[in-house]
Amino acid sequence: MGSIKADSSPLAPQGDQLQVLLDIATEAALSAGAVLQSYWGELREIEDKGKPDNIVTEADKAAEVEVLRVLERHVPDHQILAEESGSLGNAESPFLWAIDPLDGTTNFAHQYPFSAVSVGLLFQGEPLVGVIFDPFHNELFRAATGLGASCNRRPIQVSQTRQLERSLLVTGFAYDRRETVDNNYAEFCHFTHLTQGVRRGGSASIDLAYVACGRLDGYWERGLAPWDMAAGVVLVREAGGLVSAYDGGVLELGTGRILASNRHLHQLMSVELGKVRPLTQNFPFEP
Ligand code: IPD
Ligand code: CA
Ligand code: CA
Repeated sequence: MGSIKADSSPLAPQGDQLQVLLDIATEAALSAGAVLQSYWGELREIEDKGKPDNIVTEADKAAEVEVLRVLERHVPDHQILAEESGSLGNAESPFLWAIDPLDGTTNFAHQYPFSAVSVGLLFQGEPLVGVIFDPFHNELFRAATGLGASCNRRPIQVSQTRQLERSLLVTGFAYDRRETVDNNYAEFCHFTHLTQGVRRGGSASIDLAYVACGRLDGYWERGLAPWDMAAGVVLVREAGGLVSAYDGGVLELGTGRILASNRHLHQLMSVELGKVRPLTQNFPFEP
């Protein structure tokens, strides 16, 4: 596998160069996934990240070390933003890897098999490559801009659902949910009323991958980090879906807020989110 020079071109990589980056992301996700599997049911260290509902385990850390090892070998001059290590690498590089070594830590710690490694690559701030590996269902989701999206090497597409009342959606709740009225509870109730159901998977990256492959029709969430979204954004786009801000505007990973859908439901979901938003802003909150 060739190595990629960080500043070799001001243009986004395409063709063979993009394929190499996709293969690097795949290698990182698969080898970190094997690390996660080795810790399954064997966890000895679970630490609080300040609060008892926000935890980190030895598996998170070991899987991240594995991703970093692969990136160091292939792309030592790229930037990295990894959940457990923070910012690393060359801050001047136009390439930024956004890594969640274990997305779904709470699930993992409870041996609820719904977690993944999420490896995203941004070029000049724009998501370019996304690989999400769920080692518990042995599903490898891959996408790169212009190259399409796949699950276990078979092409995937978003669903064709056009009505909210026929849709199955998914969302999640951030770790600050007890401290803010903007905690997504009202939105969850609202969409539960309008749809066939709203799932709370507990792994934002798998939620996005499932929208990409049509198992779910739409997803929204707030309070996310770039490493939760970067890979999944490429998957949904390449599978024919849309990702945006809640109001349909350009997605900004730094806001932590995302609306993703099969495209057909996008405007409907955006309008409904807009109806709930003023309610949550005025809702009196007493912990
Ligand atoms: C969490 C999961 C969850 C989402 C949270 C995330 P973690 O990531 O993706 O589904 O609702 O907001 O923080 O902590 O398991 O990596
Ligand atoms: Ca996460
Ligand atoms: Ca994580």
